[in-house]
Amino acid sequence: MPTALAAFGLMAFMTIPPATPQLPDSSPSQEGDLTGQVILVTGSTGGLGREVALELGTRGAHVIIHGRNEERGNQVIEAIESTGPGSARFYQADLASLEEVHAFGERLLEDYDRLDVLVNNAGVWTDNDDERLMTGDGLEFQFQVNYLSTFLLTHMLMPLLEASAPARIVNVASAAQRPLDFQDINMDQDYSDGRGYAQSKLAQILFTVDLAQELEGSGILAVSLHPATMMDTGMVLSRGAEARTSVDEGREAVLHAITSPDVESGQYFNGTTPAQAHEQAYDPAARAELRRISRELTADWLP
Ligand SMILES: NC(=O)c1ccc[n+]([C@@H]2O[C@H](COP(=O)([O-])OP(=O)(O)OC[C@H]3O[C@@H](n4cnc5c(N)ncnc54)[C@H](OP(=O)(O)O)[C@@H]3O)[C@@H](O)[C@H]2O)c1
Repeated sequence: MPTALAAFGLMAFMTIPPATPQLPDSSPSQEGDLTGQVILVTGSTGGLGREVALELGTRGAHVIIHGRNEERGNQVIEAIESTGPGSARFYQADLASLEEVHAFGERLLEDYDRLDVLVNNAGVWTDNDDERLMTGDGLEFQFQVNYLSTFLLTHMLMPLLEASAPARIVNVASAAQRPLDFQDINMDQDYSDGRGYAQSKLAQILFTVDLAQELEGSGILAVSLHPATMMDTGMVLSRGAEARTSVDEGREAVLHAITSPDVESGQYFNGTTPAQAHEQAYDPAARAELRRISRELTADWLP
């Protein structure tokens, strides 16, 4: 373990003693049965991620719960384990810190020997138009939390996904998409929360298309989706906006991306329907540029 991580208090990331969980054989007997599968849902202490995690637990999965709020994380564990048959464990990591994302990935590599599905769900829509919010790493907040941390975590967890193939990466993006300006990735010019959010969400989709090509033949599928519009979650309600859909709709969309046998790698879904993302997602030069910038920004942490 790098000394910087030890100094960072790595053990604080866990609330349950580290030990590879004893899981039943991965041999689903009924449709939708996820017994034996290990599934990480980032941002599962609340909102959509919590609902997805609870559903995965009822289907028998071991769910890795993640977020910043330990108390809410433990409540999700309790809910899963009291209902059964699945199990859960909580990990705390702030996706606004590349150091914490790296430590989180390291911990998972130590504690698990498989990962059947990685659901990159955690996200933020800042409400701070007057003053652009930056992370401690010096990056626009939404770009880092919604996209760059996902880029780093996904690459770190690749050995676990490879060990479990067939496996899936599900990136919870959004229909809110605006093209990235690679000359000004931090949005020094023309910043708005909405633009920052939409750029970070499109970045997730570019990443998904890229992953699909990179992982061709590996047995690991990568898909992205817009779960539902203006769900009744904290992201929408905390800014005083009116919800237009229930989180149930988003949960069904994510479950479809996780379990449907009909999904193809690289696809983007609007709910459960295959859809076309913003044209920048299908531009190889744009994807190459995003990959180059992402590697550069995470160079100190990438495996
Ligand atoms: N709500 C919608 O209508 C809608 C529409 C389209 C797409 N989406 C996407 O759906 C996903 C889930 O959204 P939601 O509506 O469920 O949002 P939410 O209710 O605000 O929940 C967000 C989750 O992400 C976690 N999170 C936020 N910032 C984090 C950080 N810095 N580090 C670690 N975890 C963090 C939160 O946990 P902690 O507070 O414990 O950290 C929480 O579990 C997001 O990717 C969002 O962009 C939502």
